Amino acid sequence: MSDAALQQPSARDDARQEADEDRIVVENAYKIFGGNPDEAYRLLGEGKTKDQIFRETGATVAVQDASFTVKSGEVFVIMGLSGSGKSTMVRMLNRLIDPTFGTVSINGQNITAMNRKALIDLRRRDMSMVFQSFALMPHQTVLENAAFGLTVSGRDKADREARALEALEAVGLGQNARSYPSELSGGMKQRVGLARALANDPPVLLMDEAFSALDPLIRTEMQDELIRLQREHRRTIVFISHDLDEAMRIGDRIAIMQDGRFVQIDTPDKIVSEPANDYVRSFFRNVDVTQVFKAGDIADPGVQPGDGVTEISADASLDEVLSIVSNADGPAPVTGEDGKRLGAISKTALLKTFDKSR
Ligand SMILES: Nc1ncnc2c1ncn2[C@@H]1O[C@H](COP(=O)(O)OP(=O)(O)O)[C@@H](O)[C@H]1O
Ligand SMILES: [Mg+2]
Repeated sequence: MSDAALQQPSARDDARQEADEDRIVVENAYKIFGGNPDEAYRLLGEGKTKDQIFRETGATVAVQDASFTVKSGEVFVIMGLSGSGKSTMVRMLNRLIDPTFGTVSINGQNITAMNRKALIDLRRRDMSMVFQSFALMPHQTVLENAAFGLTVSGRDKADREARALEALEAVGLGQNARSYPSELSGGMKQRVGLARALANDPPVLLMDEAFSALDPLIRTEMQDELIRLQREHRRTIVFISHDLDEAMRIGDRIAIMQDGRFVQIDTPDKIVSEPANDYVRSFFRNVDVTQVFKAGDIADPGVQPGDGVTEISADASLDEVLSIVSNADGPAPVTGEDGKRLGAISKTALLKTFDKSR
């Protein structure tokens, strides 16, 4: 047995270190509100739409037949129009909402079958949730507000405050720990919400439109903050958004929901280059993909670079890539931050990407 094994890391550290492990597994999950769920389910089987079923039975099919896996360390973005089922889906992941049918497993444990106590433990230990807006307690300091989720977990005050301060520092609010919420801007308040979630140090973060209420500049700042935090300490994040720019910036994969169903789950570049239907396409009609994608996003590991073609760094803009491949003999190699080859970009693939953005 190795030394590392002898040190017996906690199950949680262990799980965190295993990148690429299945962290969240959803299988054939449905949520049907109101009416008779079995009848609604039967009608779905007959091919009836959500609208038809609502008219006939009064039941709302909020999520239907959702199946997906989120890997450890992945940022999984769920996108869709208002009412498409995003919030219902994310709330089924910690059972704030019980699935009507199907299963959700976290770390290999079927949470659909968990009793109340196990569920509370899971929420406390394994996952935190950040909402679009949440209440800060006005008469408590920023530090006390950030420590809020910890009071229930049976730690002493000094330990709670040390953890909360660390989380505040992580989101750039270390200096504001002794302030009161009324002294903070909207963006800073949302950071306190993020700090509150981080203070628990959860392996899984569920974020439901967490940045949607912020004005655009602060919103971009928060996205950068999240990307930075993620670089330092990879968590598994399920992030709900209705904004494609945001989804493409932070998502490793994007799942698109339409009328309660997942119509496409893919990497950002696949979503743009091979949209499953017009609904998916409608999300990026007004997005300039050349501004959103970097060379690393469209590098194809299956493509061989041409002989002697200039090496491109993963963060090069697509305009830079174009200036290289348009004069090159074959695809250009793309190299990541760590010096590893990510793949190559051919002129044809690049022009296709440019074309998609028009
Ligand atoms: N508690 C509820 N009772 C009845 N219908 C609901 C409830 N919550 C959500 N719905 C319905 O489920 C569908 C999905 O809602 P929601 O998950 O909130 O979508 P989104 O977050 O994508 O806007 C909508 O048709 C909504 O009206
Ligand atoms: Mg919602």
